Amino acid sequence: MIFTVAIDGPAAAGKGTISKAVAAHFGFAHLDTGLLYRAVGAKVLNGADPVAAARGLDPIDLEDESLRTPAVAQAASEIAVIVDVRSALVDFQRKFAARDGGAVLDGRDIGTVICPDANAKLFVTASAECRAERRFKELAEKGMDLTFEQVLADVKTRDARDRNRATAPLVAATDAVFIDTSDLTVAQAVAAAIDAVQARLDAR
Ligand code: DC
Repeated sequence: MIFTVAIDGPAAAGKGTISKAVAAHFGFAHLDTGLLYRAVGAKVLNGADPVAAARGLDPIDLEDESLRTPAVAQAASEIAVIVDVRSALVDFQRKFAARDGGAVLDGRDIGTVICPDANAKLFVTASAECRAERRFKELAEKGMDLTFEQVLADVKTRDARDRNRATAPLVAATDAVFIDTSDLTVAQAVAAAIDAVQARLDAR
């Protein structure tokens, strides 16, 4: 069975948590597409050419734990504006989406560009303050020495760049179900996502 779930939204809105939970609930495979851009960003921070890094990306590169730092996130958002970087990553994502057994992909342009015909589309969002608060707690737990203001500024810079770029900007697909997680618990957000996907499965 091919069944693709596209989950888009800004940084730290809860996409990752929701995507993992949806994939586990339905037994689908999950791809965090931000990791592709982060892996390219990390290589560029180490001196690589962005397009060459995207073309030469190996799935093993996605398992690197050091991809989850603010510096790599910003680098990812910067290289994500380059058209040739984005096109080098399209095939991998589409193949993943079409795998037998169902797939959940989360990112910024899954429902609009990568899988415009996805079976279910969600747009997961939350206020910038709320997202910065969550990211701040996450980073503080990892022992990173940052202020809330720095994290909020970071979130806003990345939002603006992701939303305003010319190619595949962050925007909700017209047929996406919106989930604003600002005032939801994790359990409530996950339940809303599972219900939305189940409705699309039932409608098949
Ligand atoms: O989801 P994330 O925070 O790991 O993504 C890091 C950056 O990668 C994000 O700021 C923009 C870019 N990205 C993208 O352009 N398209 C995607 N589908 C996923 C991420």
